[in-house]
Amino acid sequence: MAETKALMRALAGETQAVPPIWMMRQAGRYLPEYRATREKAGDFLSLCYNPELAAEVTLQPIRRYGFDAAILFADILLVPDALGADLWFVTGEGPRLSTITSEADFGKLKGAEDIHDHLAPVYETVRILSRELPKEVALIGFAGAPWTVATYMIAGRGTPDQGPAHALKAEDRALFEALIGRLTEATITYLSAQIEAGAETVKLFDSWAGSLKGQDFEDFCVAPAKTIIAALKAKHPGVPVIAFPREAGEKYIGFAKATGADCVALDNSVSPEWAAEHVQADGCVQGNLASSHMVTGGEDLVRETRRIVEAFSGGPHIFNLGHGITPDADPANVQLMIDTVRGG
Ligand code: CP3
Repeated sequence: MAETKALMRALAGETQAVPPIWMMRQAGRYLPEYRATREKAGDFLSLCYNPELAAEVTLQPIRRYGFDAAILFADILLVPDALGADLWFVTGEGPRLSTITSEADFGKLKGAEDIHDHLAPVYETVRILSRELPKEVALIGFAGAPWTVATYMIAGRGTPDQGPAHALKAEDRALFEALIGRLTEATITYLSAQIEAGAETVKLFDSWAGSLKGQDFEDFCVAPAKTIIAALKAKHPGVPVIAFPREAGEKYIGFAKATGADCVALDNSVSPEWAAEHVQADGCVQGNLASSHMVTGGEDLVRETRRIVEAFSGGPHIFNLGHGITPDADPANVQLMIDTVRGG
């Protein structure tokens, strides 16, 4: 059957007069209905592991705005949680995990095949969504890329410069590589299970790719992505993969070819004109409006939105932000962005 969902058509390489649109972190604290459901769930992790409520918050931005895609509500840190690194969130600060700094810490982690019991509620959320989503809306599954997830596991928290992960890489290369290897395997089995539950495409978030320089970028961003994508393609041919090597800069060039990704998601540090010439030349791109426009709105939002649509109009494009929408965003600005993309 010919593909009718606009997002899937873009991922298949089709140029469309109006690009499909969704938004990173589209289910989130800027929406009053999200805050109400989160309150009901108790805390963020209880929301992630409650299939009915996680499906509900995934659907909220679809109902409110009519996006072309829904992204499973979960978090990249559920994989370390499933591997046995105790995860909790400190309100107003962010995630905390037990740290991985020695062979002994690594030895306590579970195997990549042993994550499914813990992650079963996530797969159930995917099943509910694939039943309940409107037929024109595509369902996106996701995982964190090994490097980005490792930065949190090594430090036990988010870090501004990923210093502890870079230090472990320099001081105990074998341990660092073992952790990347375990995460690569776990990501393959996790994304496969999401696809089997009904995800139509999956996105690999490498939010801290920009801090990998030179050969490190090849070894710990490109190589794991290539391994993960090849394994997924072998098991699930035809399921497209979106890769997001955030802040990759000129390393965005050739990234799709090097990894086998069907679409490269762009952050807003690169101009859309540059990216159209150097990245979209190889296939579908996603992005890349600065999320600050969702706070400030107005003429600047309209102008930049039109500029991005225009710059990418010659090839396959999925309109999105360059990074997640922030809690201080105004829901009315999201509508203005959508109206501008769809209405010109
Ligand atoms: O995009 C979506 O709507 C789907 C759900 C989603 C969340 N996190 C929900 C979330 C996705 C795809 C993510 C990915 C994620 N999580 C990334 C990669 C993308 C990026 O932003 O770079 C990263 C690095 C994480 C780890 C993470 N989760 C951090 C550092 C934090 C705390 C910072 C913050 O924004 O509060 C989270 C929490 C988180 N994940 C929230 C949401 C909606 C906020 C939690 C809350 O409700 O309090």
